[in-house]
Amino acid sequence: MPKIFRDPSFDSTLDVLREGYPFLYNRSQRFNSDIFQIRLMGLPAICLHGAEAAELFYNPKLFIRKGAVPRRVQTTLMGLDAIQTRDNGEHRCRKEMFMALMGPASRQRLMSLLAEQWQRYAHRWEKMDRVVLFREAQEILCRAACAWAEVPLAEEEVSQRARDFGDMVDGFGGVGPRHWRGKQARSRGEKWMRGIIRAIRKGQLPVQKGSPAHMVAWYRDTNGELLDVQMAAIELMNATRPIVAIATYITFAALALHEHPAYRQLLRNPAEDYAELFVQEVRRYFPFTPFVGALVREEFTWHGFEFPKGTLVLLDVYGTNRDEREWQDPEVFWPERFRQRKPSPYDFIPQGGGEFLTGHRCAGEWITIEALKQAVAFLNDGIRYDVPAQDLRYNLTRMPTLPASGFVLTNVQATGKGA
Ligand code: HEM
Repeated sequence: MPKIFRDPSFDSTLDVLREGYPFLYNRSQRFNSDIFQIRLMGLPAICLHGAEAAELFYNPKLFIRKGAVPRRVQTTLMGLDAIQTRDNGEHRCRKEMFMALMGPASRQRLMSLLAEQWQRYAHRWEKMDRVVLFREAQEILCRAACAWAEVPLAEEEVSQRARDFGDMVDGFGGVGPRHWRGKQARSRGEKWMRGIIRAIRKGQLPVQKGSPAHMVAWYRDTNGELLDVQMAAIELMNATRPIVAIATYITFAALALHEHPAYRQLLRNPAEDYAELFVQEVRRYFPFTPFVGALVREEFTWHGFEFPKGTLVLLDVYGTNRDEREWQDPEVFWPERFRQRKPSPYDFIPQGGGEFLTGHRCAGEWITIEALKQAVAFLNDGIRYDVPAQDLRYNLTRMPTLPASGFVLTNVQATGKGA
């Protein structure tokens, strides 16, 4: 039986927080291995890196999610006992509901709502001295996500709700105040969503059949019962909050346009969907999800390595997207790489890998790609702007990360085009 490399550190919990995104990648490089072992919170954890390991990780017969996501991540990012922690038929049934929201007509409706907001905000920005793109994009996405989901959002609530959605995401890798902000944002958000679910069920809030709010409020689990109000609130938020999180990729896309202005012309070429290549590279190159975790369902071996039942297994998302075996010059931002070959469900995993229905691959991947393409078109042609001197560096030891300034624009002029 081959020997598994063990990280010499007695416990790596603090190192993960200290090193951030490259933690797993650094070790897989150091050990020159796609598999190695660390200790996390006192327990052994097997770490996996690369496409072949991702294929293993996304085999639902081998892994379960119940018990794999730390409580601190559930109480900020995704909600307690949500779809991300479900397995087998229960997961499949709930995932079908999420995927039913992702059809072409539903996506098109979201994109139209977003396009309206981008144009509206462009005119607002003309009157502002300084626009922090990240914050503004969060508001745009929040307004459109709520309208799409048929979640009522009063004008005076917009900025707080947008910030709360953002803080839930920001809280996942944080300790101290950042974690608490995320938790508080989540309790406010869940209370809000519980009120909406109750109002729909009592017939006090009319919503269109097939809209996200209607689907979640009336969804019946494998036991034939409606979700309890709290669970429905959490899942309605799982259909809206991550739309606001696309602001992170939009901010990185703005950075890529700024650092590589030559792509502006290529993005205007009507003969090719260059935006597709560009946004795929944004999702590959820039850090967002560091890793995902699961527990071994029943003991098995892989390439002679033993996976004992119940062991925590972490898949290196950040590092797999920059694995030199799959990606030539991975540290170079180069959208054309996606013209040369189509990624597989395992070598390009910014939003998880594998299958949508039978696995935990992100339900919102198509929405993310379309919303990003639209935002890139808007930044390229919908407005003209200056990028003043500012700190655009992003810190890989902070999870999630972002250009420090949030990407500031000045002298914005709307052109009426794009988006
Ligand atoms: C799951 C990332 C946008 C809904 C996931 C997973 C990741 C992810 C890494 C987990 C994969 C795994 O556990 O193996 C992202 C990123 C996004 C994004 C980086 C961009 C901002 C969205 C959007 C939606 C969405 C726009 C819906 C509107 C979900 C849901 C799950 C999920 C429902 C749970 C899937 C399951 O457990 O089966 N996402 N996501 N996400 N995402 Fe996203």
